[in-house]
Amino acid sequence: MPKILFIHGPNLGRLGKRKPEIYGYETLAEITEKVEKAVKAKGCSLLAFQSNSEGDLIDFLEANLDAESAIVNPGALMMAGWSLYDALEAFPAPWVEVHLSNVWSREPFRHSSILSPLAKGVVAGFGTLGYLMAVQALIEEEPKT
Ligand code: DQA
Repeated sequence: MPKILFIHGPNLGRLGKRKPEIYGYETLAEITEKVEKAVKAKGCSLLAFQSNSEGDLIDFLEANLDAESAIVNPGALMMAGWSLYDALEAFPAPWVEVHLSNVWSREPFRHSSILSPLAKGVVAGFGTLGYLMAVQALIEEEPKT
């Protein structure tokens, strides 16, 4: 069964409690359940991982290089996570970068992601729906002609 990675970076383990007016009231466990349902309906499995440590995220990616694709919310590592950049550059499968909030409507330091050039695409500002959009983009991609 094709495996899809669902990766969250620093501070995202506190979703639902941390700034819910920006990130929503759903916990990461609740979001993961929704995304898992969507992925399973497409005949794939979801492997979820969250860490506040960049090194742990890299270890997780290295241990799962056989994955079909990945959905990554890097949190603030979008701005300066150069080790994560290297790990994602070495990740052989397509992945989508997701941000719950519209980072461009927020503080200027959130306006650019060093990781985005490596991603297949970026979804930001749609809350949990953004993850489901990423699932659709990765699984239901039109075949290349
Ligand atoms: C975030 C946006 C980042 O700027 C922030 O550091 C986060 C969450 C989002 O999902 O909107 O931790 O990635």
